[in-house]
Amino acid sequence: MLVALGAHPWAYPMLETVHLLGVGLLLGNMALLELRVFGWGVVLPIQPLARLSLGLVLTGFSLAAITGLLMFGTQPQELLANRVFTVKMGLLMLAGCNAAWFHARQSLQRLDATARVSMGLSGVLWLGVLTCGRWIGYV
Ligand code: HEM
Repeated sequence: MLVALGAHPWAYPMLETVHLLGVGLLLGNMALLELRVFGWGVVLPIQPLARLSLGLVLTGFSLAAITGLLMFGTQPQELLANRVFTVKMGLLMLAGCNAAWFHARQSLQRLDATARVSMGLSGVLWLGVLTCGRWIGYV
């Protein structure tokens, strides 16, 4: 059934569109929080900003994950054999572990050098996921 989705004239482009909407929400709101942790916009109270931004980050991630899994279902064999897709999934897991560690050590309360390193790493990992996502079709 998902293979048929891949052959449908507009279903796959629509999935890609919603995937990119999720990516935009995720990266845009993540960048806002990262800049705040780096000391930009210090007049904005961090806790309410983080609540708003992380809610939108999670909404974006959910949209990207649902549409990504549906797109994966249209051509699982090809994607499992695609090295860039494997790297993308590995980077996604690393980004998730880094986010879990950031919150487990209460980085938003501490706002210390380790919190900034973790946020910097987060930016690099999410940009890596973005780059690999765009690259999948070219290998
Ligand atoms: C569980 C999560 C995800 C899965 C399973 C997934 C899977 C996929 C798949 C199957 C494609 C289509 C590849 C192709 O046919 O060329 C794709 C495209 C893409 N993905 Fe993801 N993805 C996920 C999350 C993300 C995230 C979090 C980002 C960015 C931070 C991202 C960025 C992209 C980009 C930029 C594209 C290319 C879209 C286009 O060229 O129109 N993906 N993804």
